[in-house]
Amino acid sequence: MAEYRIALLPGDGIGPEVVSVARRVMEACSKHQGFSITFKEFPFGAEYYLKHKEVLPKGAFDDIGESKALLLGAVGDPRVPPGPLEQELLLALRFHFDQYLNLRPAVSFPNVPIPIRLGSDQQIDMLIVRENTEDFYMNLGGHGFGQMSAGFLAERALYSATGNISLNFTPPIEAAYSMGILSEPAIRRIANKAFQLAGMLQKPRMHSATKSNALPHLYGFWDRIVEDVSHSYPAVELVRINVDNLAYKLPRSPLDFGVVLCPNLFGDIISDLVSGLTGGLGLTASGNIGDTLSMFEPVHGSAPDIAGTGRANPLAAVLSASMMLNYIGEQEGAAVIDAAVHQYLRTDVGQAFPIELGGTLKTDEVGDRLVSIILDEDD
Ligand code: NAD
Ligand code: IPM
Ligand code: MN
Repeated sequence: MAEYRIALLPGDGIGPEVVSVARRVMEACSKHQGFSITFKEFPFGAEYYLKHKEVLPKGAFDDIGESKALLLGAVGDPRVPPGPLEQELLLALRFHFDQYLNLRPAVSFPNVPIPIRLGSDQQIDMLIVRENTEDFYMNLGGHGFGQMSAGFLAERALYSATGNISLNFTPPIEAAYSMGILSEPAIRRIANKAFQLAGMLQKPRMHSATKSNALPHLYGFWDRIVEDVSHSYPAVELVRINVDNLAYKLPRSPLDFGVVLCPNLFGDIISDLVSGLTGGLGLTASGNIGDTLSMFEPVHGSAPDIAGTGRANPLAAVLSASMMLNYIGEQEGAAVIDAAVHQYLRTDVGQAFPIELGGTLKTDEVGDRLVSIILDEDD
């Protein structure tokens, strides 16, 4: 019997609520399929930070890295100012394990209300391919009054970059800056992945979303490398698009888009936009893929506005768990979970939908339904 060790990092807010459902669904799936999963849960997040005055203890990433894959709920808490948890936990995990490929599918689901009108036979089927290690996520920046100077160090699996930055403002005013970096190997490897994925489409086409008109240094460079990579994929049409125009077109003609390659920051924003188009953040899953430990998580955050109310839709976490099973080699198990989600959405439309989708079912109750569908139990 195949045995897997899976790390769980439920995190903050609705994170633990949706991860608990994803765990139950994976347990039901492993029972159904005859494989075994041992979960190792990590307590990091706001509670841990407030109690221990540090985001992570020494060696935490080594412990997490011993698992086959990691399922994360969400991090971020109103008691902690924005920054430390997101940077030192979530982004640090992505960078430490060099999870350079962020896959964020956005697809239509049966009976899920959406904010635009589509024909009954029309389906949104998009995949946001987000570069996950660079751009404005380098954490290089500063803040000061009049004069600012700082050394910087950016460490990534592909390189380490060191330098100094010094700024003078006349008259002396308070100011802040952030620096974006893109590197040739990082653009090249993500572009290769995106072209390969686009090559599998019925109409092989890839959009690459940048903003090289306003930021030519950074994104003109991206465009040039992506164009160069495109020569290895002659069957795939490359369409370069400004990200503002993409944001305009997505709600108007979502069916025109399949694989959309984005630098880190635009990929973040566009993935929430397409979540909105396909029915909500409670439905969109993601994978942060690298060559060592990969991490799966819903696209949504910790949603402090609904934490503790049962209003969190756990389907994004459940579908992230399914992506994870697919990744570790349990494709049939993943298909069982996807089929259970589809069956639930097809048959339970109305009152038995999650609250986010207009129904009355609380987070755990959605989990109960999925478990009974998978184990073929009567309600
Ligand atoms: P959010 O994604 O947490 O919430 C945005 C809106 O969507 C909220 O109204 C929320 O109630 C709703 N929502 C989100 N997920 C839902 C679900 N599963 N079911 C029903 N409704 C859902 O974004 P935010 O409010 O900008 O951020 C809140 C916190 O989460 C911040 O601290 C932020 O830094 C953090 N965050 C973390 C992650 C992550 O861990 N991957 C991602 C995004 C935001
Ligand atoms: C996401 C989140 C994170 C990001 C935040 C919490 C740092 O918005 O995973 O989409 O920007 O990548
Ligand atoms: Mn985001």
